[in-house]
Amino acid sequence: MKNEFSTVDEQDLAYFKSVVTQMNFFTEAVILAEYDHDYTEDLHFKPNVVLIPETVDQISRIVKHCNSRNIPITVRGAGTGLSGGALPVYGGVLMSMEKLNRIIDIDLDNAQATIEPGVITQVFQEAVAAKGLFYPPDPASKGSCFIGGNLAENSGGPKAVKYGVTKDYVLNLEVVLADGSVIWTGANVIKNATGLNVTQLMVGSEGTLGIITKAVFRLLPLPQRDILMLVPFKKAEEACKAVSTIFQAGIIPSGLEFMERDALLFAEKYIDGIEIDIDETDEAHLLIELDGNDEGILIKEAEMIHDLLCRYDCGEILFADSQAQKDKLWKLRRSLGEAVKVNSIYKEEDTVVKRAELPRLLLGVKEIGTRYGFKSVCYGHAGDGNLHVNILKGEMSDAEWVGEKLKKGIREIFELCKKLGGTISGEHGIGLVQKEYMDIVFSQREMELQKAIKQAFDPNRILNPGKIWKD
Ligand code: LAC
Ligand code: ZN
Repeated sequence: MKNEFSTVDEQDLAYFKSVVTQMNFFTEAVILAEYDHDYTEDLHFKPNVVLIPETVDQISRIVKHCNSRNIPITVRGAGTGLSGGALPVYGGVLMSMEKLNRIIDIDLDNAQATIEPGVITQVFQEAVAAKGLFYPPDPASKGSCFIGGNLAENSGGPKAVKYGVTKDYVLNLEVVLADGSVIWTGANVIKNATGLNVTQLMVGSEGTLGIITKAVFRLLPLPQRDILMLVPFKKAEEACKAVSTIFQAGIIPSGLEFMERDALLFAEKYIDGIEIDIDETDEAHLLIELDGNDEGILIKEAEMIHDLLCRYDCGEILFADSQAQKDKLWKLRRSLGEAVKVNSIYKEEDTVVKRAELPRLLLGVKEIGTRYGFKSVCYGHAGDGNLHVNILKGEMSDAEWVGEKLKKGIREIFELCKKLGGTISGEHGIGLVQKEYMDIVFSQREMELQKAIKQAFDPNRILNPGKIWKD
């Protein structure tokens, strides 16, 4: 891939300003600094200009101009990404979707909704819940992340184990292509066997193929009841081993989260007023949620899980007895990432393997850490085999942090994922920081194919350059 782009000049800026108006046009250093980073490590890349369009037509005109002038465009949602997908690594235009934030339609007859990409995920969930409907994908950052970012990264979250991830709810997308044309990728129907599935090609493409400007989602009926239980384990490996037995018993929890002791301790310190009883000898906890409409069935399933887990070395199971307690436990879980970040600069590896291989992954990660001299704190979506491995900078020098030895250690972790039937990102995407590891999971031919698709969509490579594939 090339990295020779045109410099944004005064004429370009004047054009952009005329399209989005003065109010949505920013070149001041202090504003550029607000948009020069996401949640990924401590990385910063300054754009030349920040544009905040309000209409699809404005986006189309900006893209068309950039395409003709060879200016890079990086589209940004809420900036909560963890792989650097929203970082404008070659400068140019940073386009924020924050003003395309309308819920256009909630269609009760068909259980569908049409929304713009700047809608906050939780806002969308609450709007459909008020009508008895359910949009399940719930990344940890659901209170601030945008649906557009979720689409770009194919985000998951705790509910993925039962309900799937963002891709499983998308029916149709409106997309601005690199030449400025506006297309729809599919149709607003549940079944669609019509030509190539461009909708799914867009999902997870991290803003490299086009700019999503509207999305149509299918929705489910909102489950009415849930049960939440917190289970301590003496050995982290045992917690991981217990996971697949729950599914073997015919139960699909709506959340099955793994949390290592250190992650919980960081979170307890980070959030005011949340204390849970963590026994010094407990290495890890599972947070298990069951949902549905029939309380009796849920209680029976919870009892079955209780009996199953008693075969493992686990402590007393806490059943949340109020909504407040459930909220508290979920808040604790959702804050783990931020809590770790506050504690130390870290690299987050979004490892994923076949569910039953989770114990081997965890042991392998720790063994690799010992060999390469890094400490990791792990937590994640155990039911999906999706383990977030947080490598702490801790006492490491800056040189060690960016050095070859650590990279080699990370490479070994990803090679282990591959060996265990998994891959190198479950839900955070490849973005900037994982692209150097793509060769572990894709052959040269497979990479060529992906690059050819990129070429077909964006021949001048102006859309989010420097992401997913190495230059
Ligand atoms: C989580 C984010 C980091 O699971 O994916 O908390
Ligand atoms: Zn996660």
